[in-house]
Amino acid sequence: MSAILETVGVGRKYGDFVALEDVSLSIAEGELVSIVGPNGAGKTTLVNVLTGLLKPTAGVVRFRGEDIAGIGPVMLARRGMARAFQLVHIFPAMSVGQTIAVAVISQEWKGLSFFRDVSRDESVRARVHEVASIFGLEKKLETEARHLSQGEKKLLDIASAFALKPEVILLDEPTSGVSSADKHGIMRNVVDASKKAGVKAIILVEHDMDLVAEYSTRIVALTAGRVLADRPPKEFFGDPEIVAAIVGRMVGRLAKEA
Ligand SMILES: Nc1ncnc2c1ncn2[C@@H]1O[C@H](COP(=O)(O)OP(=O)(O)OP(=O)(O)O)[C@@H](O)[C@H]1O
Ligand SMILES: [Mg+2]
Repeated sequence: MSAILETVGVGRKYGDFVALEDVSLSIAEGELVSIVGPNGAGKTTLVNVLTGLLKPTAGVVRFRGEDIAGIGPVMLARRGMARAFQLVHIFPAMSVGQTIAVAVISQEWKGLSFFRDVSRDESVRARVHEVASIFGLEKKLETEARHLSQGEKKLLDIASAFALKPEVILLDEPTSGVSSADKHGIMRNVVDASKKAGVKAIILVEHDMDLVAEYSTRIVALTAGRVLADRPPKEFFGDPEIVAAIVGRMVGRLAKEA
């Protein structure tokens, strides 16, 4: 199977500090790859490298065969990779409908006049409705983002990424700050929506091991910037050494946070 997204020997230093070293990963169509590891392991650095936000100091990052090192998330979204951020892109005073419309328009930019009321554009409105209903937000279109619940804000963030019609989607802790019951709802929504929307691969940074075990097709564990394991969930959780090195520490962290 050919890779949609891959890194070959990727390294990243911050000054003398080595945050990533010799990371080689390959993500193919149909995969949901979770990136796990303790605090400071390099997960966010890796996601930043994968989305072209950060240039690796060694190695190559390829998306659909092309080198994307440092091209930035906007150019990358145009090529078919979108990233859901942790709420930072949600403007509190914008409505749900407007938020999704911004993403739809940036994708389907078709010479709309800057001064035209884009919400009146029928095709944009139809697409906003479609995306909102995939995530159960169709009744909230007029609601300002600041009035949404925490879980709904997460869904709006992910919905905006979906509106970009990506082939690959990156989710950085999509369920943080959401109750356990809602976490599963969000993940199920994301996985179902991905199938409907033709998303080919999902990369997930997640601390909740239940979610990781249930939804991943593959798990990549990082420790101190290196890949400790890269395996399907059954093998991953079936290996006592990995469980001790990764899951044990994660559970410890979760217990501390609770
Ligand atoms: N801009 C930076 N300058 C210097 N050091 C950095 C910078 N960004 C990250 N680091 C360091 O690189 C290491 C990896 O950080 P990173 O944020 O990738 O970890 P993480 O796995 O996402 O951790 P967490 O689970 O806590 O989010 C950490 O030791 C961090 O302090
Ligand atoms: Mg992080």
